[in-house]
Amino acid sequence: MKRLTVLPNALVARGIVLTAIAAALLSVCEAAPAPIILTGADRRPATSLNGEWGAIVDPYFSGLFSFHHQEKSDGWFMNNKYTRGESALHEYDFSRAPKLKVPADWNTQRESLFFYEGPVWYERDFTYQPKEHTRVFLHIGAANYHSWFWVNGKKVCEHEGGYTSFNCEVTAVVHAGGNFVVAAVDNTRHEDGVPTLETDWWNYGGLTRSVSLIEVPEAFIDQYDLHLSRAEDSVIEGWVHVEGSQPGAKVEVEIPELAAKTTAAVGQDGRAAIHFSVKGLVRWSPEMPKLYKVAVSAGQDSIDELMGFRTVEVRGTEILLNGKPIFLRGISIHAEAPFRGGRANTDKDAETLLGWAKELGCNFVRLAHYPHDETMLRAADRMGLLVWSENPVYWALQFDNPKVLAKAEQQLEEEIGTSRNHAAIILWSMANETPNTEARTRFIETEAAHARELDPTRLITAALLVRGEGHTKIIDDPLGKALDIIGFNEYIGWYEGHPESADTTEWRVEYQKPLIVSEFGGGAKAGLHGGENERWTEEYQANIYRHQFGMLNRIPQLRGMSPWILMDFRSPNRPLTGIQDEFNRKGLISDQGQKKQAFFILQKAYKEKTVGRPE
Ligand code: GCU
Repeated sequence: MKRLTVLPNALVARGIVLTAIAAALLSVCEAAPAPIILTGADRRPATSLNGEWGAIVDPYFSGLFSFHHQEKSDGWFMNNKYTRGESALHEYDFSRAPKLKVPADWNTQRESLFFYEGPVWYERDFTYQPKEHTRVFLHIGAANYHSWFWVNGKKVCEHEGGYTSFNCEVTAVVHAGGNFVVAAVDNTRHEDGVPTLETDWWNYGGLTRSVSLIEVPEAFIDQYDLHLSRAEDSVIEGWVHVEGSQPGAKVEVEIPELAAKTTAAVGQDGRAAIHFSVKGLVRWSPEMPKLYKVAVSAGQDSIDELMGFRTVEVRGTEILLNGKPIFLRGISIHAEAPFRGGRANTDKDAETLLGWAKELGCNFVRLAHYPHDETMLRAADRMGLLVWSENPVYWALQFDNPKVLAKAEQQLEEEIGTSRNHAAIILWSMANETPNTEARTRFIETEAAHARELDPTRLITAALLVRGEGHTKIIDDPLGKALDIIGFNEYIGWYEGHPESADTTEWRVEYQKPLIVSEFGGGAKAGLHGGENERWTEEYQANIYRHQFGMLNRIPQLRGMSPWILMDFRSPNRPLTGIQDEFNRKGLISDQGQKKQAFFILQKAYKEKTVGRPE
């Protein structure tokens, strides 16, 4: 959209239109092109930039701001891969700097960075050979929280948000032979951030997910959405968007195993509508997580996807998967790496965490409280675990600040745009435990409407707080009206009452919609034993779980649960020496893989289906 600066009427009325002033003021600003979101980027060939990067810790951000705090357009960090004689600041030289591993948070790489919140500069060299008619993007899996990138000294992008992937076009700045990329990543928390200042998880900073170069033809498939029609049996529908294409350009979708193929033409909006019948398709489900190779092509571009096809919908208080009622036996999971700690970001991390969930008897996982990475989502597709994916609208954001809404919507677009073809994902969660205010409700209603527009094939939820009046708990948060499925968190037996309090707790629910108890539980240090009413022992945690099931079975429209949480995870809010030591200990498994008694209590209940309504 072009923006014109309109001259004040008085000036025009007086007829004094000084050309020089007019020329200066009438600046038609070329709006920056919309950022490119790549669906299925992990299915494309890429040049990995993972590995050791030079890293300089810059607490005062003097690499980007002058000593009078003006942002430097040609800061010496980004122009001089190694500080040379001409730079006045000889102290900053990447070639002499210690290294940081990418992808990885910096907190668990260096003791001195464990609690660090601030900017860190990264640099690495790479060789490149430009190709004709090819565009090239720097693809960043995630950089927490605010990040800036330069290639060969030229700024290529800036991004805010720590849990979604983004792409910086570098076509015009890379050249044959040696190149270098400089990044600044600042994990400082901000009041107007998404999330905001306060969270109950570790603020792992850095290039926390993979970084690569992705080449695409001049006209390329940036986003696509293929799914099973809810309305027509055995029909796959959706669309493929081809960036840079001419209207009428051909798109093809083929599923060789089903001997199914369709072609479509790109419209004025760059999208080609897809709709074709398939025979013999095996629907994806937790019991049968069938994945198909799907070839999506347009001109010179093609992507070999691996996708499952299923439907999910709500009917009354039922959640229907492939048309049949389902109860979601789940567990919540943070992206915390088992054993080593830090941000989870490998296939091994994903297989360990989701393997434990399968062992627990789950068909469902709540990936809290932010979008997890492609390794986790691919593993969920493979292993047959339904996913609740969440935008980090967590606790008390500045809900009356339009800039914060824009940030939340940007992260939602990145989350849905990149992950919309994972059969495992059935729920887009808008928020967690937000305060019941008018501003909050308006904010999240807007976010939910945006999510529905982006993806009408999935269900919208959020984890709500509940009200309590004595032994009666009430779910009547007005936000519930905007949701397809109501999530709610309760900590009976931990933050209130005793484990036995659940036996006499009744629930009043103001909505005839499916409910998911998205959190309950309590803390225990693995290996600490004592009486079942002795806090922090495994016995106490197990006792909480034991008393939950009867209460949950008394909630008629309960259709799922994701107790808090699979594995202990780091949080600065959890200092209790000798027990927490900066870990939230509500895990059923310790961060070192020790299963606590409550793991087996829940596992038995899931296996015998004594909690939740058996299908
Ligand atoms: C809250 C919150 C979680 C937090 C948990 C706890 O419900 O949603 O992020 O970790 O409680 O207190 O352990």
